[in-house]
Amino acid sequence: MKNVKAIIFDAYGTLFDVNSAAEKCKDKIGDKWESFANFWRTTQLEYTWLRSLMKRHKDFWQITEDSLDKSMRAFSIDPSMKNELLNLYKVLSPFKEVPETLKKLKGRNFKLAILSNGNPSLLDELVKSNNLDKLFDDIFSIEEVGIYKPDSRVYDLPIKKYKIKNSEVIFLSANTWDVSGGGNYGYQSIWVNRNNNIFDNLDYKPSNQIKDLTEIFSLI
Ligand code: LAC
Repeated sequence: MKNVKAIIFDAYGTLFDVNSAAEKCKDKIGDKWESFANFWRTTQLEYTWLRSLMKRHKDFWQITEDSLDKSMRAFSIDPSMKNELLNLYKVLSPFKEVPETLKKLKGRNFKLAILSNGNPSLLDELVKSNNLDKLFDDIFSIEEVGIYKPDSRVYDLPIKKYKIKNSEVIFLSANTWDVSGGGNYGYQSIWVNRNNNIFDNLDYKPSNQIKDLTEIFSLI
């Protein structure tokens, strides 16, 4: 991949395992923990898209709680677990190769940043709780523009700050729709396809996909 000035990561699902909050409670939730976690994630994302379309913005933390309420009802989870699940969501675990890969990338000549739906304080706490805070030049949050991905104003944020071209960004996401959003915007998007999933039909196919972040070194 040529002419790269910035390597930008999606956060939730790409650097941090969104299922890890429910997984840490699997003894209490039982076998349904993974279906519950997937339902929570899907509902959370639907709320971001729906609120953007309805022009009724709420920040990501409020949406995370709203979607958790619905998901706990749908899966008959004991309501007393709500705070535990929310607190675990603040300190999600990174995927295992993430810290080492970011440390190796840090020595290279690129800007390193996160571009995420998360609100700034939530993202700060998340990177700090995992000792990753020194590794990023910037953490861009959609709160700066008040609308969620994949609105192009979100993907504009690093372009404006770094005064670079869309095509000078490598954007990595495990969320297929986010890869399409960034790719349609003009980023060189890489799909982090950890689970052998199927890509979307949204007018963009990434030319590169990797199984985990360590594979980025063969592309840059
Ligand atoms: C984010 C969502 C897409 O971090 O997971 O922006």
